[in-house]
Amino acid sequence: MLNLKMFVFGKSMSRSVSASRLLYHSSHINFSNIFSSTNCSMCHFSTSSQTDIIPGAMTLPRYLNSVVKFKGPISVFEYMREALTNPLHGYYMHNDVFGQSGDFITSPEINQMFGELISIWIANEWMKLNKPKPLHLIELGPGRGTMMSDILRVFKKLNLLDNVSCHLVEASPKMTRLQAKSLLIDPKTLNDEPNDTQCYCSGVTGDGVHVYWYNHFKSVPPAFSVVVAHEFFDALPIHKFRIILFQKTDKGWREVLIDSDPTDLEGKRFRYVLSPSPTVATKLFVKESDPRCEFEVSPESRIIMNELAIRLEQFGGMALIADYGHDGSLPSVDTFRAYKGHKQIDPLYDPGSADLTADVDFSYLKNNTLNKLISLGPITQKEFLSRMQIGVRMKALLEKCKDEEAKKSIVSGYNMMMDPEQMGERFKFMCFFPGVLKDYLEKMPVAGFSS
Ligand SMILES: C[S@@+](CC[C@H](N)C(=O)[O-])C[C@H]1O[C@@H](n2cnc3c(N)ncnc32)[C@H](O)[C@@H]1O
Repeated sequence: MLNLKMFVFGKSMSRSVSASRLLYHSSHINFSNIFSSTNCSMCHFSTSSQTDIIPGAMTLPRYLNSVVKFKGPISVFEYMREALTNPLHGYYMHNDVFGQSGDFITSPEINQMFGELISIWIANEWMKLNKPKPLHLIELGPGRGTMMSDILRVFKKLNLLDNVSCHLVEASPKMTRLQAKSLLIDPKTLNDEPNDTQCYCSGVTGDGVHVYWYNHFKSVPPAFSVVVAHEFFDALPIHKFRIILFQKTDKGWREVLIDSDPTDLEGKRFRYVLSPSPTVATKLFVKESDPRCEFEVSPESRIIMNELAIRLEQFGGMALIADYGHDGSLPSVDTFRAYKGHKQIDPLYDPGSADLTADVDFSYLKNNTLNKLISLGPITQKEFLSRMQIGVRMKALLEKCKDEEAKKSIVSGYNMMMDPEQMGERFKFMCFFPGVLKDYLEKMPVAGFSS
């Protein structure tokens, strides 16, 4: 049984916080004493939207139209992958897409409370296991680096940074620069690592934590790891399948593909068509006995979950995944969407100019852990954050805050993250641990996942 006392949150950075006390009792955090003294801060919305100039006359719609002309309709997977991460024109590759001036806002960007509570979750679960070291903090798709920066700040206050390193899996050079800005002592110290076969960049934070960047999760060196992923899996490309009826009696699965729209003179609009016969993906991913009539599959999620399972089983650790999604039991799933300027728009119009996303199938994540991991959840964001005592944290922030506008921002951020009509129920949390910990975790329940 752990019975630890720790002091958290000394005076801190731009968005807030200072000294609070965190008490652990028998592995549970006593949140009533946390955050006893805190400063508040405003949400850190971006005030500038930087769009780098992309060289070359070829736009992404033009490129995709020529691909379609050359080889016929393409999969939703190929369309989504090109639209998001094409090196020249992909949506994430050259733009800061977050905040009021961007296209969407995520919970870590809304308020520091989110990242802080994730950090407390990690610290609590890691300490329950006696703090195995070295600890690799791994984040998949870290966006602006805000959540990792919040995590490291709390770790610092808890005096837990010794032998901790930070590993970021990121596809976008623009996001890498933003993450360096959030995390490194000076973003100019971001080093390219052309000779390293694994990471492509590295740097050091003001507190001496080494940070490494990778294109792929499997490249992160092995060690006891805590893996976090917030709004990452929904950005991974999907295949879409639909069952169709032939001559009223026969049924068959077909892949939903994307074709140029011949009626669009601008050349920016695409349309769905069905594959005339089963594609390779249909043969790989569809079971004839599947009771659903339409569904989506993210093959990269499967690969990452396999890799996660092998890593956690061999070297120990845990994972916390938060995203919007479902449990795979719906008879028909059609969640491929686009967001631009905080509005939902047609995903088949002007690829590369908007965020594309598909709901995460949490049962698919769970079913691809090769029977090596145990999982808890999915539970709603509202449940997770309230069990992690976000209310206590908000109260402490408000008490310390002198600025009325900042107070309003804290309350509206809380409401946005917790309101069932906004993010509170749409977003879900799931965690994974090595199967060998099953009995242990029954005795020492996981924070946030048990009441
Ligand atoms: C929706 S953003 C979420 C950012 C951050 N986690 C947050 O909640 O604010 C998705 C992030 O994943 C990155 N990303 C998208 N596809 C990726 C891929 N295939 N491999 C690695 N990173 C990817 C994006 O560049 C971005 O940093």
